[in-house]
Amino acid sequence: MKIMILGASGLFGNALLRGWRDDEVIGLSSRGVDIRDAARTQETIGSSRPDWIVLSAAYADVDGCEKDPARAFAVNRDGAVNVAEAAKRTGAKLLFLSSDYVFDGKKSAPYETGDARNPQSIYGRSKAEAEVRLLEILPDCCIVRTSWLFGMGGKCFPDTILKLAVTRSSLDVVNDQRGSPTYTVDLASTIRELLRNNARGIVHATNSGDCTWFEFARKILESAGLTTEVRPVSSAQMARPAPRPAYSVLSPRSLNQLGITMPSWQDALQRYLRERPAL
Ligand SMILES: NC(=O)c1ccc[n+]([C@@H]2O[C@H](COP(=O)([O-])OP(=O)(O)OC[C@H]3O[C@@H](n4cnc5c(N)ncnc54)[C@H](OP(=O)(O)O)[C@@H]3O)[C@@H](O)[C@H]2O)c1
Repeated sequence: MKIMILGASGLFGNALLRGWRDDEVIGLSSRGVDIRDAARTQETIGSSRPDWIVLSAAYADVDGCEKDPARAFAVNRDGAVNVAEAAKRTGAKLLFLSSDYVFDGKKSAPYETGDARNPQSIYGRSKAEAEVRLLEILPDCCIVRTSWLFGMGGKCFPDTILKLAVTRSSLDVVNDQRGSPTYTVDLASTIRELLRNNARGIVHATNSGDCTWFEFARKILESAGLTTEVRPVSSAQMARPAPRPAYSVLSPRSLNQLGITMPSWQDALQRYLRERPAL
């Protein structure tokens, strides 16, 4: 297979690129192709003729999107549309990375793939609108919603907590947002399996189990043998520009139906802490 990864310099794209064996893989950052440029996107995809495109490229700064909605929609929705149209013309299959933030967070049981989208933030809206447009352009595309990514090669929550723990005696971490932390290495193996199985439609892919950011932080410190105090606070106390869903756990049913299971987030965290380079 010939695979093109768009967003290969990002936290996830990087893990996907690094872990790939046995196929011809082309990884591009925004310098390789800016997906906002429809003509360049068509040219790049048309000349490489990949079998699969993994579209991981995004303006993924959730608070940044709130401040710059024009950029959020230009990259996350319109850029994705440019890629889908080029894929359609070239006959390439498309896998699009989407997010738990397409949901409003009002449920208290895991979100199924058919649950209604109701994003609360600009970032969530830009991803939700992209999903709808992509399914119109390429009804056979695969949309993989994931959440709370951590891993090597980019900024991530465990690294932030470990860095702060060195300089502060206590940390305040929100305890009213629940989701599933997901190791990029585990998501990358899942995506490779989805491609091999010619997956289509919407799939939810996260490490199994769930926690709040506070519980995640406590586990990170405990695993690293640090005794820094972690204090639970509310989202209101930590006011951020973009609202986050209070509950965004994604059901593994769609993945399990394809015969795929992912390890627990606790197991993933232990492996990440062993595998990552020292801070
Ligand atoms: N991070 C999370 O917790 C999370 C959760 C759920 C879903 N997701 C989704 O998962 C995917 C990967 O996220 P991530 O955390 O790996 O993102 P990231 O680290 O911010 O990486 C974004 C990637 O997109 C590229 N990019 C940005 N603007 C572009 C443009 N206009 N044209 C072409 N490429 C562009 C960047 O290239 P440059 O390096 O050249 O800027 C980079 O390679 C995204 O679709 C995101 O929405 C992420």
